[in-house]
Amino acid sequence: MDMENATKNWEQMTYPFFNIKLNYNLGALSPFIDEKTMRVHYGEILQNYISNLNKILEQRLDLQKLTLTELIDYATKNQEQDLLRYAGGVYNHFFYFTELRPATGQIVIGITPQATQEITNAFGGWKNFKEKFTEYALSVFGSGYTWLIRNDQKELEIRNTSNQRVPQDGTPILCLDVWEHAYFLNYLDKRQGYIDAFWNNVDWVKFSERI
Ligand SMILES: [Fe+2]
Repeated sequence: MDMENATKNWEQMTYPFFNIKLNYNLGALSPFIDEKTMRVHYGEILQNYISNLNKILEQRLDLQKLTLTELIDYATKNQEQDLLRYAGGVYNHFFYFTELRPATGQIVIGITPQATQEITNAFGGWKNFKEKFTEYALSVFGSGYTWLIRNDQKELEIRNTSNQRVPQDGTPILCLDVWEHAYFLNYLDKRQGYIDAFWNNVDWVKFSERI
């Protein structure tokens, strides 16, 4: 592990990339995400994305000082598909795993009145927001993510991305990995059950800071 890198937030991390340390243990998100899924998803799948990204960057001195979002911008502009896929995969998974926390039993603990106001203004309230987000997450065909973002017009918007693509504009606030590898061991093909459980494990403190 690169010690200088280790002290940085993942959003500032540059080559060589390494897996983030989680604030919870691998079984702590159960029953939303079981320990075996975490071992595979966080420990193997994400690690593979990181290793593949490092392999690409090993010979690319010009790119070694770039952060994940800078790499994604570069890869998009220059149409470097492998770089885009792996940098996107690392970014998306870092975002997802760090926005989760063990369930508290109180769905919206940690949420600020301002965040609730924002959700109410944009979607008419939490219930409507969750319904709309769920609708989007169910409609991802194949592999991808559902996001809440603040778009360039400064409005809150729900959006889907395919495979390991990231939203092309705006600032991400929340993301849900709906690749089958994120839930299949626990929910089989019942994506709805996974989405419903997700709300219990969102770190609402982080969410409120981002919104
Ligand atoms: Fe994933």
